[in-house]
Amino acid sequence: MRFPLAATAVILAVFLALDQAQSLYFQFPNFTITDQSQLSLSDNSSIALGAIQVTTDARGASIGNRAGRVLYGRPFRLWRRKGKNANFNTTFVLNVSNMTASSGEGLAFILTADRAVPAGSDGQWLGIVNSRLNGTTEAQTVAVEFDTRKSFPEDLDGNHIGLDVNSVYSKRSVSLNDSGIYISAAKAIKVVVQYDGKNLTVFVGDDMKNPVLSEPLDLSAYLPEMVYIGFSGSTSDHTQLNCVKSWEFTGSEIKKSKLLLVWILVAGSVLLLLVGVGVAFFFYRKRVCEGNRLDNACPNIEEEILGFSTAPKKYKFKELSRATGKFNPKNKLGKGTQEETLSWGKRLGVITGVAQAVEYLHNGWKAEHDDYISNIVHGLWELYRRGTILEGADPRLDGIFKKEEMERVLILGLACCHPSPKSRPSMKTVLQVLTGEAPPPEVPAERPAFMWPPMPPSFKECDNSLVGGQLTPFSVLSGR
Ligand SMILES: *[C@@H]1O[C@H](CO)[C@@H](O)[C@H](O)[C@H]1NC(C)=O
Ligand SMILES: *[C@@H]1O[C@H](CO)[C@@H](O)[C@H](O)[C@H]1NC(C)=O
Ligand SMILES: *[C@@H]1O[C@H](CO)[C@@H](O)[C@H](O)[C@H]1NC(C)=O
Ligand SMILES: *[C@@H]1O[C@H](CO)[C@@H](O)[C@H](O)[C@H]1NC(C)=O
Ligand SMILES: *[C@@H]1O[C@H](CO)[C@@H](O)[C@H](O)[C@H]1NC(C)=O
Ligand SMILES: *[C@@H]1O[C@H](CO)[C@@H](O)[C@H](O)[C@H]1NC(C)=O
Ligand SMILES: *[C@@H]1O[C@H](CO)[C@@H](O)[C@H](O)[C@H]1NC(C)=O
Ligand SMILES: *[C@@H]1O[C@H](CO)[C@@H](O)[C@H](O)[C@H]1NC(C)=O
Repeated sequence: MRFPLAATAVILAVFLALDQAQSLYFQFPNFTITDQSQLSLSDNSSIALGAIQVTTDARGASIGNRAGRVLYGRPFRLWRRKGKNANFNTTFVLNVSNMTASSGEGLAFILTADRAVPAGSDGQWLGIVNSRLNGTTEAQTVAVEFDTRKSFPEDLDGNHIGLDVNSVYSKRSVSLNDSGIYISAAKAIKVVVQYDGKNLTVFVGDDMKNPVLSEPLDLSAYLPEMVYIGFSGSTSDHTQLNCVKSWEFTGSEIKKSKLLLVWILVAGSVLLLLVGVGVAFFFYRKRVCEGNRLDNACPNIEEEILGFSTAPKKYKFKELSRATGKFNPKNKLGKGTQEETLSWGKRLGVITGVAQAVEYLHNGWKAEHDDYISNIVHGLWELYRRGTILEGADPRLDGIFKKEEMERVLILGLACCHPSPKSRPSMKTVLQVLTGEAPPPEVPAERPAFMWPPMPPSFKECDNSLVGGQLTPFSVLSGR
């Protein structure tokens, strides 16, 4: 059956969609004024000279005692369950140039609950917190600071990075002197921040082997589920230009392996249930139709099957054989003239075969290009012409079958392979032959010549009652 393939595809598609909905990716190779629409800029922040100016770039005018924040406009989902964090990688290029003899104050990459710059967060606060928020859980801001001034005793020096959690006091800080990197030297400085949900790791410069800083950190302990990401910066009496030249961010949730399994099971079960209901409904309708003996009231069985959204696409004769248990006599698809009530399992066997046969018939002449099928049909027709069609039975059956039944099914198979759709048996006939209610159709002794196109197609309105009016009536090639 092709159904499991289709189901898998659907489930995968659902997953990809979910995955994409949960992840965030963006890339700014440089910044132009049009990028403003995707960003959230505070007062005194701007885009100028192809870069984000986190604090004012106004040479000549005063740029002292400013604070600014530039964040990506859409928030990022950091976690769903405490301790189960998303992971992310971000790469940005900084260019900080001192505008006074000694630079000040610093720039930071931040994750924060609040887009607004805290009032009075200029100077030593780097736009991260202010004196009221410093050291409180209310701050809800985690930062990787690039501090260019030793502004209070705990500050390491005027050239360090630090990991700040709800504070300007760094949980951990590292001087960049040893790396030979000077933050405020008007040079491009590449920074990579990686977070795997447990550790935060920072690389500065081109050395991607030795991180400058790597700290265990559970962001869900300090930040809300949805956070804004971006940059903050400040100046004091000591000033600098706080530029971000480029920025790329990739974020995704990783902890979904168990969730994935659950989803596959749920989606798979629902699909199986739907198909089961569809098949049951199909039989119910068929019985009602037969009871009424009103042929016209019964929609064409082939069209009904085509109406199923899960209708199989293309089947080979071999598959028909397999679906009917290699025409295994144990299946007893009808016992000649003897009446027998078919069990559900057997009915399912029949309908599977029929559905597959229908698809074969509809697409049969596409399969004509399939040499394998063609050879089977050709070989079988040859046996039939010589009156020894039973030799076409699967040798693995060891001849354990009712000869009449096997002959009936094989001849039926041939009839279904007639190049002209009009000469193929109707679905009703196929069912009757399979259940032994009717003899197999007459098949010419010589295999009819292949014609392409087989016949001018005949179109008619399809009864769409089975699909509950979800589809508007449409025309299909009436199948045989
Ligand atoms: C900025 O990036 C865009 C691609 O997003 C590129 O087409 C453009 O040439 C870049 N401009 C500069 C000045 O590098
Ligand atoms: C923005 O600049 C103005 C002066 O132009 C200043 O009064 C204001 O405090 C600045 N805002 C911030 C958040 O730095
Ligand atoms: C971040 O980078 C690491 C190392 O290259 C990689 O293993 C991880 O999958 C990346 N994470 C994301 C969200 O791209
Ligand atoms: C920036 O710092 C350098 C080195 O300390 C210094 O030579 C230069 O004069 C400073 N720039 C300004 C505008 O003060
Ligand atoms: C900021 O808060 C931290 C506690 O997180 C404290 O150690 C530090 O002294 C405070 N800094 C200032 C300048 O008040
Ligand atoms: C880093 O270098 C600066 C001068 O270039 C110096 O003032 C500072 O103390 C140094 N930092 C450390 C930790 O040695
Ligand atoms: C850094 O910014 C300064 C001031 O805008 C500029 O003169 C310099 O060329 C920039 N350097 C780089 C590498 O972008
Ligand atoms: C986090 O970093 C520590 C060392 O700082 C290391 O021992 C640990 O294995 C890392 N954890 C993960 C999940 O990478």
